[in-house]
Amino acid sequence: MAQTTGARVYGRQELVDLIGALPRVRIAHLPTPLEEAPRLRAALGPDAPRILIKRDDLTGFALGGNKVRHMEFRMGDIRAKGADSLVVMNVAQSNHARLHSSLAARFGLDAYIVKIPSRKDEPVNGNLLLDHIVGAHIINAPSAAPDDLQATFARVLGDLRAQGRVVYDVPNDPVSKAAGACGYLLASVELLEQLDALGVSAQHIFLASGTSSAGLALGGKLLGAPWRVHAISIDNPAATVEAYMCAAANGAAALLGLAELLEPGDADVTDAFIGERYGVPSAAGLEALALAGRTEGLIVDPVYTGKALSALVHAVRAGEIGRDETVIFVHTGGLPITFAYAEEILEGIA
Ligand SMILES: Cc1ncc(COP(=O)(O)O)c(C=O)c1O
Repeated sequence: MAQTTGARVYGRQELVDLIGALPRVRIAHLPTPLEEAPRLRAALGPDAPRILIKRDDLTGFALGGNKVRHMEFRMGDIRAKGADSLVVMNVAQSNHARLHSSLAARFGLDAYIVKIPSRKDEPVNGNLLLDHIVGAHIINAPSAAPDDLQATFARVLGDLRAQGRVVYDVPNDPVSKAAGACGYLLASVELLEQLDALGVSAQHIFLASGTSSAGLALGGKLLGAPWRVHAISIDNPAATVEAYMCAAANGAAALLGLAELLEPGDADVTDAFIGERYGVPSAAGLEALALAGRTEGLIVDPVYTGKALSALVHAVRAGEIGRDETVIFVHTGGLPITFAYAEEILEGIA
């Protein structure tokens, strides 16, 4: 159980009402489907659990993904603060940059991406191509060294403000930092209602770690849900990710005036599935990508969701999850990335 002994349990409507007081702009197509994956289950052997896929790749806006849920709250805050532009800092294949550039286009803001140099700058493809299509202003940082990145980011922000623009600093704004967890507190209620309709309870949730996993972990704790969140790091050491998740969830708790907090140990965080490093596909991730594609016609990406799914595949094969249990895999999207990794994927699944 994710729930700490003695913690107060909130009613679903009570939590929905609390979140309803936050500024929000509706963009996502909700609820997203919760689908059975019977052929994936069968491929994992006779002792595999029931597997349900939460299709947050299908949130609808600008090719979808988990972040569309986050952006509903971020856009609410952007409006409340009267911003006319937003700035993000990401690599070429960033889902975050693609979705925020698209958000800006949709609401008549200017988007500035401080682009961190990476191996996927050329050819222009996947998310970077979409950034161009939706008209983002792309500023190339001279190197990926932290000092260069911060200096470039500060210059872009400073230049815009000197021109009298009201700029929303996406990575540093405190409400922006909490928006992802707010989106997934609400998704926790959505998920519980879908599970009720199926007459099933889920003991495990697997997904790529971040603010979404933080929201689901805190959501489970507040609502007394039986699930344990397994947050799969695709970049940083587990301890760093755990601290980041607690900060994100507790930022949301502060916005909502909740005394209950996400604490270390409330979720399982692992860094065992990163492989070589962020942005480099792992053998296990590519195996999971091919398995999902070939059993369910389900497309996962090589950087986030493939690695997260490889953790679920590993846990089932290792017998860590029983056949009488139910596991949810949250598909957080990221599909445009796939097209920038054709060579690695073809080589890895040959
Ligand atoms: C596809 C995908 N899944 C998961 C994440 C994890 O982070 P968060 O939950 O904060 O979006 C990201 C972040 O970029 C992502 O692009």
